[in-house]
Amino acid sequence: MAPKDELPEKPERFGFSRRDFLKTAGVGSLATAVTTVGAAEAEAQTGPAVMGPDDVPVTLMVNGKRIDLRIEPRVTLLNAIRNRADMTGNKRVCDRGACGACTMIVDGRTVYSCSTLAIEVQGKQIRTVDGLANGSSLHPVQQAFCDTDGLMCGFCTPGFVMATVALLEQNPNPTIQQAKKGLDGNICRCGTFVRIFEAAMKAKGVARG
Ligand code: FES
Ligand code: FES
Repeated sequence: MAPKDELPEKPERFGFSRRDFLKTAGVGSLATAVTTVGAAEAEAQTGPAVMGPDDVPVTLMVNGKRIDLRIEPRVTLLNAIRNRADMTGNKRVCDRGACGACTMIVDGRTVYSCSTLAIEVQGKQIRTVDGLANGSSLHPVQQAFCDTDGLMCGFCTPGFVMATVALLEQNPNPTIQQAKKGLDGNICRCGTFVRIFEAAMKAKGVARG
């Protein structure tokens, strides 16, 4: 009688032996593993889809209007709007997220537009100081800045106006301390802070989004 490990395997149903099945399953698992590793490696090598460095289509919703641009992906929201969409209300001062002069409102929140890529805010509602007035009627916050003489050189003013609008939309009746905290991301190099806070207090309860 042949030793046990030399016995021929009994053919199973459908003509496959147990050994054939194990061999096939092993090859299949190996192939799956190789495919999975290959896909992961390929993804790691290629990374997310790359855009640019040449111009790409970018669509922005600014002050309720759609703007279609072709710009490099590295272009900031501020530069896209000032240089390519011809809305120059918001100013470029420090250009590095330190002064707030470029403040815009994106989906209800203030952003430094000099430090935000235009391509990142596609599909969001962008508001600039250019869109605040209603024809010849100033927005109440703009009017309050005029009434209190809340500016000197004026470079910081569009950013302060936008920050004040955002503050009053979130908290229509802030205390002076809350107003100071809400506007602490903006700097006035001329030192007009007292009148700026006066303007915020004058517009409170009046300004609405
Ligand atoms: S210009 Fe953007 S923070 Fe100063
Ligand atoms: S008014 Fe000149 S920087 Fe503010």
